[in-house]
Amino acid sequence: MTTPREINFKETDLDAIAEWEGRVAVFLGEDGKMDQTARRVNRLTKGALARMADAPGFAKMKLGETKELSWPAGMKAEALIVARLDRRPSTEDARKAGAEIAKAAGTSPLLVLAGNLNRAPDVSLGLALRGYDFNAYKSDAKDPAPAMTFMANKPEEVAAEAAPMAAIAEGVFFTRDLVNEPANVLTTDDFAARLAAMQEIGLDVEILEEADLEKLGMRTLLGVGQGSESPSKVVVMQWNGGKKGDKPFALVGKGVVFDTGGISIKPAGGMEDMTMDMGGAGVVAGVMRTLALRKAKANVVGLVGLVENMPDGKAQRPGDVVKSMKGDTVEIINTDAEGRLVLADVLWYAQDRFEPTGVIDLATLTGAIIIGLGHENAGVFSNDDALADAFLKAAKAEGEGAWRLPLGQAYDDALKSRIADMKNVGGRAAGSITAAQFLQRFIKKDTPWIHLDIAGVASVKSDTTLAPKGATGWGVMALDRMIRDKFEG
Ligand code: BES
Ligand code: MN
Ligand code: ZN
Repeated sequence: MTTPREINFKETDLDAIAEWEGRVAVFLGEDGKMDQTARRVNRLTKGALARMADAPGFAKMKLGETKELSWPAGMKAEALIVARLDRRPSTEDARKAGAEIAKAAGTSPLLVLAGNLNRAPDVSLGLALRGYDFNAYKSDAKDPAPAMTFMANKPEEVAAEAAPMAAIAEGVFFTRDLVNEPANVLTTDDFAARLAAMQEIGLDVEILEEADLEKLGMRTLLGVGQGSESPSKVVVMQWNGGKKGDKPFALVGKGVVFDTGGISIKPAGGMEDMTMDMGGAGVVAGVMRTLALRKAKANVVGLVGLVENMPDGKAQRPGDVVKSMKGDTVEIINTDAEGRLVLADVLWYAQDRFEPTGVIDLATLTGAIIIGLGHENAGVFSNDDALADAFLKAAKAEGEGAWRLPLGQAYDDALKSRIADMKNVGGRAAGSITAAQFLQRFIKKDTPWIHLDIAGVASVKSDTTLAPKGATGWGVMALDRMIRDKFEG
């Protein structure tokens, strides 16, 4: 498991600065203003910081951006990392500065001089998140980065505010690891075992095996996994930190550990990316981990459907008709539209068993959402404006892109089947919306619900502000914040 780089919060010690061997990060106000620590660095380096602030290049730097000064005179450090940041930065700029510092520091010993900077805890979150490196399978992997020292004028205050952020970083890392793992390692068994291990941090974890799912009548889920050697499973994770007896909020995730498309097999080019098709389940797991680590005062249940979609002699065929737990029948037109079949049964089970106050499902559901929204925004579909607004607000505050798209009867009509209650794909038009309509057929009338199509944002091919290329952990922070705002305010 990849764990965030440890941070030791210490009181500012001006004498330690010159002696630090490694990298030292310091903040320079937008207008070149320096606090006591920056002035100290400036004096040690015989005015290098002041000259940097006066140079025309400084004014062109974006907030949160960094410049590096190698082997600065007057210090033992191998480099001085100077971040341009207001004393009272926005959350976003503070996190970006932390991320840029993490990138510049690599694995060297790092001393961060936050002085009296506002939002120092957000800097620490940026530092933690951008320090992620999935190197489990690199033979030449470097040793993990040593703990960093974070000096601030009020270290206890900063450390207290940074503690829940450490829980967030751990949740995000958990999601990223799950999404980055190859499918020969992260089988349904391995996935379930990693979730069961979270009992150690206080979650209640149950694993429903194929025989249990069969008894419950989850035939649309089981149909997807029936061509695989890996057994299908549903894992239920409960965090009951809220009022006893209060109904929980439910998070439901698509956990297709590999999606070949099944008999409607996908083309070879890029098929390797389908190791991330459990991204929805990965986010649910990451949020549950964060909630448990920060001992959230909320009742939340996370449910994931774990299956592998493989072609095989036993695999489901196009033309098959399967019956869902709800009782509705589905004509399989395309075995590659499997995520909705998995979610249909898990969504129904979640409502049937827990009577949740609301449900949010997450899934790498459609390629069409990437055509529509690219890698910047997840698709948001909802039957409840208040819940949708609460989520969109939280996502915006966390800098996680999310964009609402419509639902409606006309789209639902595309799912009419000649021989069953519905078919599993609409036409070519509005592919992400008809997929959402399919899911809505398994949502009870008065359950507030959001479907998040995260196919474009769960894993990306270039670095983002807070993550190196690969799994992003998108959604962990937004969902954690939404739960905080909704239940812990
Ligand atoms: N897992 C895919 C969607 C996907 C595509 C995720 C690209 C991430 C990146 C999903 O199961 C799928 O295959 N969807 C089909 C649906 C179609 C058959 C109606 C698609 O989008 O092509
Ligand atoms: Mn598919
Ligand atoms: Zn899929």
